[in-house]
Amino acid sequence: MNIVFLGPPGAGKGTLSKKLSLKKGWLHISTGDLVRREIRMQTELGKKIQSIVNSGRLVDDKLVTRLLEKKIQNEKKVKGIIFDGFPRNTIQAKALEKMLSKLGLKLNTVVYLDVSKKTVVSRLSARRQCNNCNEVYNLLYNPPKKDNVCDKCSGQLYQRKDDSPKIVKQRFEVFKKETRPLLDYYKEKKLLKIVSAESTVKKNLEQVMNALQ
Ligand code: AP5
Repeated sequence: MNIVFLGPPGAGKGTLSKKLSLKKGWLHISTGDLVRREIRMQTELGKKIQSIVNSGRLVDDKLVTRLLEKKIQNEKKVKGIIFDGFPRNTIQAKALEKMLSKLGLKLNTVVYLDVSKKTVVSRLSARRQCNNCNEVYNLLYNPPKKDNVCDKCSGQLYQRKDDSPKIVKQRFEVFKKETRPLLDYYKEKKLLKIVSAESTVKKNLEQVMNALQ
């Protein structure tokens, strides 16, 4: 099964993708993680996109699509794929259809995580991430055992530059303008399931699993 998680920043796309990937054995691909990796490695692409990502704008469609294509091509047989953060607009949605069709695959379901702006601002201001293994924490809901230290690998935790309140606001606006129109796009294709993501991670995951049945 191949699914897309759609939702505003902080809706829990990454958190739920990881849990679902563990439960189902599906491959989880986050384009946010792919672009952050390029930035961390200071590749040519990483240097080019760093300021765009840190300011909360979207990276060029062609660049992100190429990154995703490269990632998929490197994967051998997979049972299913979870797309987290892609597509962000209709150009990317069409690119995804083309990419999957080349592999003889299709998109089965699009899950929209519905959550208020108030909730995402509170979640994102408390998010911390490991600079070594990428594990995600939340100082309010899922804090590390030791301050600023990753429970899993003892790496240092950091706050994403685009998680400052000003940039979160900007990302939310970008989401409304660019990505929210995808709801109509996928509704028309009869692929859309809407799930409330206001509750705990456990409850939200249950709702996602129900929606996928
Ligand atoms: P990306 O990394 O994809 O950012 P995003 O879509 O804004 O999503 P987030 O990662 O911020 O949030 P999430 O929904 O995954 O929430 P999470 O599970 O972490 O993209 C970043 C940037 O990269 C973009 O702005 C753009 O520049 C670029 N980019 C990426 N893809 C692109 C594309 N396709 N095209 C162009 N540019 C692209 O949860 C958030 C926090 O809340 C965590 O701390 C978590 O622990 C906590 N939490 C989660 N669920 C709950 C819950 N139910 N209760 C309490 N806490 C919770």
